[in-house]
Amino acid sequence: MEDLNKRKKEIEKDIQGIASLAMLKSAFKKYLGKQGLINRLFRSLTDLPITQKKEQGRQINLIKIATEQALEKKEIEIKDKAREDTIKKEKIDITRPAEKKEQGHLHILTQVQEEIITIFQSMGFSTVAGPDIETEWYNFDALNVPASHPARDIQDTLWLEKEKEQDNRSNLLLRTQTSPVQVRYLEKNNPPFRIIVPGRVYRNEATDASHEVQFYQCEGLMIDKDISVANFKAIISSFLKRFFGTEIKTRFRPGYFPFTEPGFEVDAKRGNNEWMEMMGAGMVHPNVFKAAGYVQRDWQGFAFGMGIDRLAMVKYKIDDIRLFYSGDLRFLKQF
Ligand code: PHE
Repeated sequence: MEDLNKRKKEIEKDIQGIASLAMLKSAFKKYLGKQGLINRLFRSLTDLPITQKKEQGRQINLIKIATEQALEKKEIEIKDKAREDTIKKEKIDITRPAEKKEQGHLHILTQVQEEIITIFQSMGFSTVAGPDIETEWYNFDALNVPASHPARDIQDTLWLEKEKEQDNRSNLLLRTQTSPVQVRYLEKNNPPFRIIVPGRVYRNEATDASHEVQFYQCEGLMIDKDISVANFKAIISSFLKRFFGTEIKTRFRPGYFPFTEPGFEVDAKRGNNEWMEMMGAGMVHPNVFKAAGYVQRDWQGFAFGMGIDRLAMVKYKIDDIRLFYSGDLRFLKQF
């Protein structure tokens, strides 16, 4: 009897100390398994006289029940604790500041292009587009640059057809300027109007700090009954002031373009105190109207073509045009 009470206490103490499911499993085997302690105790009864057997058997049975209950209780305890631990571990602190996700942004040239569009829009210009792949006709002939004209050589051209056809309307090239859209727009729309045409242009030339084989221009065209050079100066001065602020110096000087008469160039002063050409411009040449199918000389106006890259270079003090296209994040992230 004494012995069994002691056993019971030992078992209880042992189960109290269980701290894992693995320990629980081995304790189960140790006490309640086929070869476990309880069964061994039951088996030892055979040697006892019948009078003791009954009482001892009852006691062992109580120990068995108590052990089962203690193990069951322990199992629930361990499982509850494990659940609590995971909840604690996986708890999300919603007050903790979130990590900043790195966000992309518009390329500096796209930003500048959007700024140009916004400024001209406020002056009543609408934005139109033309094809990057042009015909020889729209890119040159219609702009008063016939095949024999030396001005053809000013803009080295990337031709798309190997063999040049006789018909200059079917010879394809990558546009060297946005000016062909002047003719395309004049053909399809009746003046008065004012438009800008931002887009890519291509030149077959060696690259350096201020030249790329591909860059951006923004063409402008304003046509009405009595548009003059004064209107051009007013519009462009207003644009430059808004784009650069007042601190940048600009100058207008005569320039030659076959599709203008007269023609101008507009320069801006760079950080290094050198003038940089920002755009070509001028009054639209009568031959351009003629090429677009205008018979009477009812309309006149000005056109300009500004280099978006160059505007960006002056405004943001960038000294090499090639940086725009380098994909160098150290450069791009500054803007
Ligand atoms: N297309 C000219 C160039 O690329 C610029 C220009 C546009 C000049 C319109 C006059 C008028 O150099």
